Amino acid sequence: MDQKTDQKMQRQVPWSPPDMGESEKKAAIEVINSGWITQGKITEALEKELAGKIGCKHCVVVNNGTSALITALLAHGIGPGDEVIVPALTFIATINSVIAVGAKPVLADSDIETFNTTPEIVKQRITEKTKAIMPVDVAGMPVDIDGFKKLAEENNLVLIEDAAEAIGAGYKGRNIGSFGHTSIFSFHMAKLCAGGEGGCISTDDDAFAEKCRMICNHGMKGRYEYLSFGLNFRITDIQSAIIREQLKKLDHYVKSRNGFADIYKKNLKNAVFQKIPSYVDAHPWMIFGVLVDKDKRDAIIKKLNENGIGTRICWPAPHKQGYHTGLFSGSYPNCEEISSRIINLPMGNALTVADIEYVCRIFNEANR
Ligand SMILES: Cc1ncc(COP(=O)(O)O)c(C=O)c1O
Repeated sequence: MDQKTDQKMQRQVPWSPPDMGESEKKAAIEVINSGWITQGKITEALEKELAGKIGCKHCVVVNNGTSALITALLAHGIGPGDEVIVPALTFIATINSVIAVGAKPVLADSDIETFNTTPEIVKQRITEKTKAIMPVDVAGMPVDIDGFKKLAEENNLVLIEDAAEAIGAGYKGRNIGSFGHTSIFSFHMAKLCAGGEGGCISTDDDAFAEKCRMICNHGMKGRYEYLSFGLNFRITDIQSAIIREQLKKLDHYVKSRNGFADIYKKNLKNAVFQKIPSYVDAHPWMIFGVLVDKDKRDAIIKKLNENGIGTRICWPAPHKQGYHTGLFSGSYPNCEEISSRIINLPMGNALTVADIEYVCRIFNEANR
């Protein structure tokens, strides 16, 4: 649609539409017709393909990214009495997964320019109770992995990278998930490899992978022999079949999203963008956030929504949320600043250049 057609028939630009084509539909139907629709051989195949693509020894596929975080924490033996440092600026799942295993989430502020937390900030939050650090690749952009690995080693801490948004991301020439420490990914509908829901844990450690597999399946080894605590975090082969098809298109999605990000950066006026450090060599742009003037944000969002454009705020400050407010003391000024100024604009596998250009036009009209 050109500008005139946009005006006649209002263009709808969802926040993050998935790209479900014939191959995804065919793969899902094949599983439905196969007689085995829970976790099985298709998930096993997906685990191998993911590990091959990421460049790690094992991928343990589960029903979502939150379960992957909980599984990783349990498998590392983290529980009551332990503190886990997480960024304040994250999706609430990072924080809730720590609460779910009975440990205490400790917030660390983020860098105002990259939106990611840093080893220097996290270091200041370490106490004698700290057992793990869980940095988040915000929008899929890698954190300083070398810095976090060093910090974890020096302080004898577990490093779990919340890479829920970072499938397809690269750091210093290697894929996220291939650095040996535990990383987790999500295959939620808005992610680059969308399965509706889904998640995985990547590791190079055979015993750790085995532990995770047991935790995800009631602690079972073999049939009905329970060797550890566990729950049902199994995915279905229907979702795995869809994710396998999406994985084949991952490089294409990274490329198209980078194209969209370039259009946004070139065209959006009076907006601040996430800064990309030189160690990042692939940014998958799972989400695309811009900082605007605090006082103008509501009006810009209103105008975008009225024009059929989906938006999100990723994310509200967790220490100001109804349930979480009593859990955290202290202030996290950069998180608060980003949370109060960010608008997440449409970014998704099924969007087009014309969609993004339309968003730019409406955004600029609203943000004069
Ligand atoms: C940073 C982060 N961590 C964890 C999760 C949880 O993943 P899921 O929604 O698959 O449970 C998400 C998902 O959106 C996320 O963005």
